[in-house]
Amino acid sequence: MSESKFSRKKFLQTTGAALGGSLIAGPVGKNVSGKSKKNNREEKMRVALVGLGVRGVSMFGRHLVENYGDHLEIVGICDTNPGRLEYGDGYIGAGCPTYTNLNEMLENTNPDRLIVTTWDWEHHSCIITGLEHGVDVVCEKPLTIDEEKCQMIIDADKKYDNEVIVTFNYRYPPHRAKVKELIMDGAIGDIRTVDFHWNISHAHQMRYMQRWHGESQRGGTLWVHKNTHHFDMINWFLDSDPMEVYAQDALEIFGSNGPFRSVNCRNCPHADNCDYHWNINENDHLRQMYAENEHYDGYIRDNCVFRHNIDSHDKHSALVKYANGALLNYSLTSDTDHSGYWIAFNGTKGRLEGREGGWPSSSDHQEWILTPLGEEPRKVKVNFSDGGHWGGDPLLLHKLFADPDQPDPLHQHAGTRDGVMSVLAGVAARKSARSGLPVKIADLTSLKPHAKRPDRLV
Ligand SMILES: NC(=O)c1ccc[n+]([C@@H]2O[C@H](COP(=O)([O-])OP(=O)(O)OC[C@H]3O[C@@H](n4cnc5c(N)ncnc54)[C@H](O)[C@@H]3O)[C@@H](O)[C@H]2O)c1
Repeated sequence: MSESKFSRKKFLQTTGAALGGSLIAGPVGKNVSGKSKKNNREEKMRVALVGLGVRGVSMFGRHLVENYGDHLEIVGICDTNPGRLEYGDGYIGAGCPTYTNLNEMLENTNPDRLIVTTWDWEHHSCIITGLEHGVDVVCEKPLTIDEEKCQMIIDADKKYDNEVIVTFNYRYPPHRAKVKELIMDGAIGDIRTVDFHWNISHAHQMRYMQRWHGESQRGGTLWVHKNTHHFDMINWFLDSDPMEVYAQDALEIFGSNGPFRSVNCRNCPHADNCDYHWNINENDHLRQMYAENEHYDGYIRDNCVFRHNIDSHDKHSALVKYANGALLNYSLTSDTDHSGYWIAFNGTKGRLEGREGGWPSSSDHQEWILTPLGEEPRKVKVNFSDGGHWGGDPLLLHKLFADPDQPDPLHQHAGTRDGVMSVLAGVAARKSARSGLPVKIADLTSLKPHAKRPDRLV
């Protein structure tokens, strides 16, 4: 396959003389900006997309076509389900070739970047296939679901030159970026402990349990699928790696705990008695994307939340020791009245805390409370920005597709190492809850925890 004009290999070949031999010979920091110099970007970025569920067709499909046409061209889309592929093709409107096989798409379309929005347990194979074809990979969270697949991605990342980018959109909302900025500026000194407690609402949790997210071999349990976001936020805020995790969890509401069960929601005989009843056929978009294409692959979007094979938990609590000595007290409680979180950082020079959701607050800004040691608490207000995930999605997309060279002073750009470390914190928690013993991150893959996170895969 010919090399893309955006690839790091190509960039190094064309700029190697100017950069000097030391960079070529030494470990190369993986940086999109390095590969995408403006003089290489007169032509549009060629983007391919694999995985045409709700996330793929909306955030990375139609949205890119409608808003980023000046910067990129979608050159191929792929889904293993031919019905969903056809629906996604019409919905996205890119007018590009369609494929049910990823290898074939990459062979035929020669993209610069592959966007992976497949099922979590398929991410690793799509990432590795992309790298083998000399393509930069933009992968949805979680990077993958277990430590073996983490290691496969680490090995592939080391072997091939192209870059893996993880879409940690939770780093991008301006009110969270402000927290990172305050911490980096030393507003509260070195962080000693973090209290971080997240709630997932009834409506959100039932969507998880109706789908593959409820089954550990597919979503890695919420310890990985959901909490990858949360662990990544803390890893990022602290700029340190998780080192050891002790956890407990329980499944109290869903799965075999339910009072009755059926095949799926839409025809359920218990519909009138079930708090989780939902008729997918009332939503045209979801009916056409999922229900009408079940016969191809058996993927059912409205499974019973009380099916016996659910083994993802609905309450979680973990104590995480970081390599820089900080301690994280974390919990995730799901199926509550509201979604949101409360977070507090206790530092050597003060305290920073705030909450989102389930709290009387302004609809247009976030308030953080900063209390420098010996001083009165003061409010730090940050206006919300528009768009999905508290405004994080559009800012992430802008960085990835419109302005890859934009400076990254807050280190919001995330790669394989960040993705792996956030997954491993969840894997360690899952294992600890099963065994009753603390689990060391260093025992899971070849990566070792560092007090300050390195750029390289060490
Ligand atoms: N960052 C966020 O906040 C956020 C939000 C939502 C979803 N996500 C992530 O996005 C991804 C997709 O989520 P979704 O809700 O759209 O999932 P989904 O189950 O609705 O869709 C996944 C699609 O991928 C296809 N697929 C699976 N494996 C494939 C393969 N090997 N080759 C080709 N196609 C394949 C399936 O047929 C399906 O159409 C997940 O990893 C999820 O965790 C992230």
